[in-house]
Amino acid sequence: MKKNVLVIYKSVTGFTKEYAELITQEMDGTIMDCKNVTSETMSKFDIIIFGGRMHAGRIDGLKQTKKLFLHSNASHFIIFATGASPNNAKDTIEEMWRNNLAPAELTDFPHFYMQSGLRYEKMPFLDKIMMKMFCSMMKKKKDKTDYEKQFVNIITHSYDISSKTYIMPLINYVTSLP
Ligand SMILES: Cc1cc2nc3c(=O)[nH]c(=O)nc-3n(C[C@H](O)[C@H](O)[C@H](O)COP(=O)(O)O)c2cc1C
Repeated sequence: MKKNVLVIYKSVTGFTKEYAELITQEMDGTIMDCKNVTSETMSKFDIIIFGGRMHAGRIDGLKQTKKLFLHSNASHFIIFATGASPNNAKDTIEEMWRNNLAPAELTDFPHFYMQSGLRYEKMPFLDKIMMKMFCSMMKKKKDKTDYEKQFVNIITHSYDISSKTYIMPLINYVTSLP
């Protein structure tokens, strides 16, 4: 049976929007920018999928979208986050989920991470400054792990490690819902 899916995204440089578009196509759903969404809109759907970028450890737009979902009649709230960290940075990603979701929410809201990259050419000025500060802090850090040494070299430039395949765990989860 066709599922009634609304995909909501908050995206600044485009990665999250691209993943949201791929998920929407795959689920034959409806897509909306988070700034146009209300609880009433959500109530017309059974499954809400929200995607936001990682921003200094926080998932951009999650708090507001979750609040709207809790005031809606939709049944499922599924989250995906995009970020510069690679999918195999498991500890970092787990910590990120723990910092963004309360213990009960970690169980109630299925959540998926999708690696993306960085697009300096599309970043707002303040984000560029924040990245510059982060890079210089990482460079100065003593006793860097091998992972940190590699990561600090990568994040000084734009790069794209996104792939359509990374939406599949989320798609498989939604498809398996009764
Ligand atoms: C200021 C800033 C902070 C960021 N913080 C994180 C972070 O904490 N963890 C992470 O994995 N990626 C981080 N990123 C990378 C973004 O999450 C990544 O580029 C994301 O996919 C951008 O999404 P968008 O293209 O939809 O805006 C950060 C990027 C910027 C500019």
